[in-house]
Amino acid sequence: MKKLKVNTGRKYDIIIDRGIIDHCGEYIKSVSSPTRVAVITDSNVHALYSQGVIASLKQSGFIVSEFVFKAGETSKNFRTIEAMYSHLADNNVTRKDMILALGGGVTGDMAGFVAATYLRGIEFIQVPTSLLAQVDSSVGGKTGYDIKQGKNLVGAFWQPSLVLIDPDTLNTLPQRYINDGMAEVIKYGCIKSLGLFRLLKKGMDQLDIENIIFRCVYIKRDIVQNDEKESGERKLLNFGHTIGHALEKIYEYKKLSHGEAVAIGMVMMSRASEAEGVSSKGTAAKIAELCRTYNLPTYDEASLRDIAFASQSDKKTSGRDIDIVILNSIGKARVKKISQRDFQHYLETAEEQ
Ligand code: GLY
Repeated sequence: MKKLKVNTGRKYDIIIDRGIIDHCGEYIKSVSSPTRVAVITDSNVHALYSQGVIASLKQSGFIVSEFVFKAGETSKNFRTIEAMYSHLADNNVTRKDMILALGGGVTGDMAGFVAATYLRGIEFIQVPTSLLAQVDSSVGGKTGYDIKQGKNLVGAFWQPSLVLIDPDTLNTLPQRYINDGMAEVIKYGCIKSLGLFRLLKKGMDQLDIENIIFRCVYIKRDIVQNDEKESGERKLLNFGHTIGHALEKIYEYKKLSHGEAVAIGMVMMSRASEAEGVSSKGTAAKIAELCRTYNLPTYDEASLRDIAFASQSDKKTSGRDIDIVILNSIGKARVKKISQRDFQHYLETAEEQ
């Protein structure tokens, strides 16, 4: 068992342990005393884990309700959010009660947003079951949903009261979504840890996944503590995400998973900053090679014009500028402001090499 304390506006623990999902009731009881717990989950995760989670919650004395939505990024919209609010109201969930987000990033982001806004805010617990959610989205309090203009454009910062990570849930995750999460793991190596980046070269079979999750969460915890509301250092976590979100949007969240899009974004961004003479030579090739180790794409045929256009509505755009994240070398990242107008040209410099 591994435990980390997060010292943000709301302080909470992250606990990583195999099998913890079936004991979630006991852990929740130790941090809070709600009467009711509303479990929010998607159709895939419901079939696999709801029974064990609900049994544990009931055993600990909670009154439990469950809201299940259709799995997938295309459900991450206001219609689903509205149905969640109705579920809470219909089940008499009050300010003293709690939401439990059981699932991947889509579930955690939406359940967290509902927790942030229902009755002006109630507590919530994250029980992430995908690698992407375990290493990234369940920690740090970013919540929200997509609108047609872009991903996560509506949201709130709302920290959970507890994060329970069960690495055993990865046993049921399809390989594509293990790879998807590995893109975020590679991101942590790129922005903060050359040691992690090197370790990842061993390949999936040689990794202790519990240790990898811990290392990522440790990095994220430190960043979030320094900059909870993303006014500085937290922006580094967006490495590869400006292009990644643009690609997801171009393909209407259907062709590329989040991690796949981010992998392409990390490589493209590194090529451009290498061409500019900022990233040390070979940086993009090293990242591309590591992405390929985890069967992640490193190139997409979308035009740079379309990518630059789609990135205009990204959250990382402020005024006429976009905050892009570039690497000086693997493990050393920084934020650079670039005008929206110059972004396409910036990407083109890599093509011209
Ligand atoms: N996923 C990036 C962040 O939490 O800031």
